[in-house]
Amino acid sequence: MPSRRRVLSGIQPTGAGKHLGNYLGAVRHWAAMQDDFECLFFIADLHSLTITPDPTELRAQTRKLIAELLAMGVDPSKSALFAQSHIPEHPELAWVLSCLTGFGEASRMTQFKEKGGGNVGLFNYPVLQAADILLYQSHMVPVGEDQRQHLELTRDLGQRFNSRYGDTFTVPDPYVQKSAERIKDLADPTAKMSTSKGGPGVLWVIEDDKATTKKIKSAVTDTGREVEYDVAAKPGISNLMTIHAIATATSVEQVQDDFAGKMYGDFKGAVADAVVEMFAPVRKRYAELIADPGYLDSVLREGAATARPIAAATMVDVRDRIGLLAPA
Ligand code: TRP
Repeated sequence: MPSRRRVLSGIQPTGAGKHLGNYLGAVRHWAAMQDDFECLFFIADLHSLTITPDPTELRAQTRKLIAELLAMGVDPSKSALFAQSHIPEHPELAWVLSCLTGFGEASRMTQFKEKGGGNVGLFNYPVLQAADILLYQSHMVPVGEDQRQHLELTRDLGQRFNSRYGDTFTVPDPYVQKSAERIKDLADPTAKMSTSKGGPGVLWVIEDDKATTKKIKSAVTDTGREVEYDVAAKPGISNLMTIHAIATATSVEQVQDDFAGKMYGDFKGAVADAVVEMFAPVRKRYAELIADPGYLDSVLREGAATARPIAAATMVDVRDRIGLLAPA
């Protein structure tokens, strides 16, 4: 039987938590991929160090993220869920790859340029990400559009290593999630919903139902009164229609039919109810999980037990290819 294709993705623990856009754009797809692929998901806690987080907060946010991912459908009986920092081969391979990365090449990465400098960790961020991916011989890396350049660098470094030292790495296919489900900020519907922006336009997966309802009811809407899908002329209403369609598993066209002739206020009430209902099982499960840190730790332990042998085997090969002596 041919082995299943391997999917790998990572997510940083820092930030206030996951929002509706993360859920619909990424995590829901991860959950759906678990039956068809061999999936490895990890918490990119080493990447988070580039913003030098407060240690107590980092620990809490890491536990929160594990609980969120499990509540959103990542299933440890199907997939490995682990912490990057529990697998020392990540920084080890990152060092090897950094010696194959041009200074200019790394300097051209947009994410680094946009931050306008910073620490050396931030400069090396994409190289560590390449190591994350190549270590596991992953075929597919589901990521958002903003990660495309990092995937390209990963492919370049994998190919460079393979042509210099012989075939060692699987060069992954880009699997950029074209989010037809690109969710906009409720208070600023021409901007993407984002963690860093925060504020009243961001719906957190984990928050009070009341907070969710309030934010949706206060969402910026457009002039006019028709519940009509028109992203250019009615970005606010169109965003709410997208959210409603996804939350109730229908199409935007269906939403438009259902709310023809209805007032904005009624429509917003319906969107709020739909989102609260969609998140109800996730929020319930999250509350149980976050109260059980022993279980969360055991998930990471088992995840690492699955992931580590794959990473270790790759590194045995890498060390040999580049001419490091094997430890006696
Ligand atoms: N840079 C990714 C992000 O911010 C997180 C990440 C780190 C990642 N390593 C990865 C994603 C490896 C995919 C594969 O979203």
